[in-house]
Amino acid sequence: MTFDTIILGAGAAGLMCAAHCGGRVLVIDHAKHPGEKIRISGGGRCNFTNTGTGPANFLSANPHFAKSALARYTPWDFVSLVSEHGIAWHEKTLGQLFCDDKATQIVEMLTGLLRKAGAELALESTAEDIRATPGGGYALTLLRAGRRQTLAARRLVVATGGKSIPKMGATGLAYDIARQFGLNVTETRPGLVPLTFPEGRFAALSGTALPARVQAEGPAFPEALLFTHRGLSGPAILQASSYWREGESITVNLSPAADPFTRLRAQRQEAGRKSLTRSLDALLPSRLSDFLSQDWGLKGNLGDQSDRALQDLSQRLTGWQLTPGGSEGYRTAEVTLGGIDTDALNSQSMEAKTQPGLHFIGECVDVTGWLGGYNFQWAWASAMACARAI
Ligand code: FDA
Repeated sequence: MTFDTIILGAGAAGLMCAAHCGGRVLVIDHAKHPGEKIRISGGGRCNFTNTGTGPANFLSANPHFAKSALARYTPWDFVSLVSEHGIAWHEKTLGQLFCDDKATQIVEMLTGLLRKAGAELALESTAEDIRATPGGGYALTLLRAGRRQTLAARRLVVATGGKSIPKMGATGLAYDIARQFGLNVTETRPGLVPLTFPEGRFAALSGTALPARVQAEGPAFPEALLFTHRGLSGPAILQASSYWREGESITVNLSPAADPFTRLRAQRQEAGRKSLTRSLDALLPSRLSDFLSQDWGLKGNLGDQSDRALQDLSQRLTGWQLTPGGSEGYRTAEVTLGGIDTDALNSQSMEAKTQPGLHFIGECVDVTGWLGGYNFQWAWASAMACARAI
């Protein structure tokens, strides 16, 4: 059987591409249902884009690569699509747009568009023996319900995502296909992932949350931080985790909104007999005050502290250096950093420069967004770049 385009992966990027590329299209996915990550995203409400999306919100060996696709399909283009389909949405914070109701509305919209475009969907199916055919185009063996069938297409679009959450069906298929055709794949690692610490260092603080500013080898992220049984999580940590590498430390500012020195000095004047530990309660949850007091050996009353001592404490609170032992890994990572080397792809069409008709879109490409709707925007934009070129 012959198609114009075969798309591997019925996730965000694959569905979007199938809905818009035209011609006779088949989408192959080994999952039971399409768009499973969309369904669980954003706590079931799908943070489907971010109105502030720009190239600076992405990590990639080539920060310029994403510019073209992002400029040609903007967050407002996707908002128009969503609104045309009667899906109500709201901005939660920082430009993050969510469905008012449920994430499955986005999946239904995309599968509806796919059907309208006449594309076919082969679920619970895998593609094997993928090869280029002598006259141009590609052939593969479709394995569905124990039956094998040879299929051919002029174009093959790989949209099988990254390695994050193998339990949900994530595989490294895109990277294998890239390597098979001689394309470089940059180092992959888990991103937007909780960080772990040895010996349950923060177990006593599990469940404690506070606003913080967290920085690894990248920008500082002023968002919530959460202590867990195994380490640190919350948006500020997930964001910084994408810039963190094994063995490096992170800097946590536990008082991003107020200068601790000014606050502590003012307290010293009003309540000098207060213990240093309890004086921290003005800035931190009390469980964290207790923990830091013990960890840092804080003793005595506020009245006993010199300006110098309060300045030192203030610096520790705003520049807490921590070295994570690791991360929770692909098991819980929201995304995979790295992937198909952008040098190997045409940024206008997502087509492999050395392999005509072979395209890579979505998360499998070495373009990874921050937390906050950026990754879906990349999936939509890269899919549209490919669809328009086909
Ligand atoms: P995606 O992973 O969506 O799709 C890949 C498809 O390929 C899947 O359907 C899979 O079954 C299929 N596949 C894989 N290997 C295969 C094989 N060997 N054979 C056949 N099929 C195969 N982003 C965001 O912007 N806002 C948000 O709110 C969230 N929330 C969120 C929550 C959670 C828990 C996670 C894990 C991730 C997010 N994300 C997110 C990230 C976002 O889900 C992700 O970046 C996109 O889904 C990537 O889209 P793709 O289409 O590239 O891959």
